[in-house]
Amino acid sequence: MTHLAEVTIRTQDLDQAHADLLVVPLHNLAELEHDDLKQIAKKTRIDEVAQDEGFSAKKGQTLLFRGVKGLEAPRVLFVGLGEENKHVRASVVKAARIALDIRAKKVALYIPTKEETRLIVEGFLFGSYRFTRYKTVQDDAQNPARIDDLDLYGHPCKGRVKTALSFVTGIYLARDLGNTPPNDLYPETMAQAAVDLAKRHNMSHTVYDEKYLQDNGFNLLYAVGKGSQRQPRLIHLEYRPEGEVKRTIALVGKGITFDTGGYNIKTNGHILNMHLDMGGAAAVLGAAEIIGRVKPEGIAVHFVIASAENSVSSKAYLPNDVLKGLGGKTVEIQNTDAEGRLVLADALTYIQRSKPDEIIDLATLTGACVVALGDDTAALYSNDDNMVKGLLHAASENEESLWRMPLLEAMDSQLDSKIADMRNIGDRMGGSISAALFLKRWVDLESWAHFDIAGPAMATKDSDLSSAGGTGYAVATLASYLLEK
Ligand code: BES
Ligand code: ZN
Ligand code: ZN
Repeated sequence: MTHLAEVTIRTQDLDQAHADLLVVPLHNLAELEHDDLKQIAKKTRIDEVAQDEGFSAKKGQTLLFRGVKGLEAPRVLFVGLGEENKHVRASVVKAARIALDIRAKKVALYIPTKEETRLIVEGFLFGSYRFTRYKTVQDDAQNPARIDDLDLYGHPCKGRVKTALSFVTGIYLARDLGNTPPNDLYPETMAQAAVDLAKRHNMSHTVYDEKYLQDNGFNLLYAVGKGSQRQPRLIHLEYRPEGEVKRTIALVGKGITFDTGGYNIKTNGHILNMHLDMGGAAAVLGAAEIIGRVKPEGIAVHFVIASAENSVSSKAYLPNDVLKGLGGKTVEIQNTDAEGRLVLADALTYIQRSKPDEIIDLATLTGACVVALGDDTAALYSNDDNMVKGLLHAASENEESLWRMPLLEAMDSQLDSKIADMRNIGDRMGGSISAALFLKRWVDLESWAHFDIAGPAMATKDSDLSSAGGTGYAVATLASYLLEK
């Protein structure tokens, strides 16, 4: 597990802070008049320098001072948040990256107001995430030293710091799972990680192995996974609160630990990074970690993961195979690369037997979704306007980009098959929608939502909120959504 900085709340004045770097987030330059910041402003002479450097505390702007006389900290970094309060985390992520670059071990972070505690602490810890498990040299130019201590000054709210740390831990877990290479993270080891999580937080857990899946009609999940030496798993954790359960929500994640495409094999440009095809599963486990820590009252939550490696071998499933899903309907395989919807279909059928009030599934489902919405935005499909409202609200509070897309009934017939109840692909255009419509055919519940996170779950380069690799997208949105129930 990637190391998380030790976070401590300090009560001294900011200019007394002992640290390698002092980070001061600002909405505007007028805030420098505030009693907390007066000394720092005076000693750095920021009012003169800001003008020369064109620093006006716009979001993402930074201004670094070195060797400031009269301060305990040798460096001060001002970071602009902008007035709108919209990209707070992304701005602070930048500050954390600078802190890593200058090899700060101990950072003092100013929290201007109670309300901003969560986004600022999260932003800093998001930005200081580095996945170094496979580096034999821990500290080199590409891989700067980690930050050991983060001291909070100003007005941090204790409860919100705690929440932020739970959120960051969940997101770090999701990123670590994503970044773990496919020779180490495969269905069995993903199940082990889930069981460890369940044990840490006293949740019940069940893992179904390939034999169980084959013997009990999980033919779609089994078919997708059977071609690999690393066999499929269905993973089910359950959180139950103390006291009364008012609402039960199920989260379901696509956990393809590598997607070669199968016999419809992916070509060069498309196969790389397909170990991140378990971003949905990572989001589900990240949210489970947060729920396990926060232990909310009144809600029960199922965490379900359909995990398989979509591989090629003489045992792999074939184009034109006809398979009967757990839900009883038959599917003609027309493309072995449309595997996510297959494993999800069985997982959705499975969890509906537990009669949840709501189901949310998450999947890196289609390249078409990335074409439609770009790298940073997920598609949200749902038959329940209330869920949409709650999920869009949770996403915006967490500064995660999410956009509702339509379940166009007119496109549903694209999924009809000549010889089976349905086929597993639609036409070439509108592929994210037809994938969602495929899932809908397996859902018999009024309150269902589906996230296509193919874009934002993975980053090929460092992005606003995340470093390259698995991003932990949707963890925060899901956790907020659940906690507001
Ligand atoms: N895992 C992919 C989708 C994907 C593509 C995720 C790019 C992240 C980045 C999925 O299993 C897939 O291959 N989908 C096909 C569906 C098609 C065959 C209908 C696709 O998007 O091309
Ligand atoms: Zn695929
Ligand atoms: Zn896939």
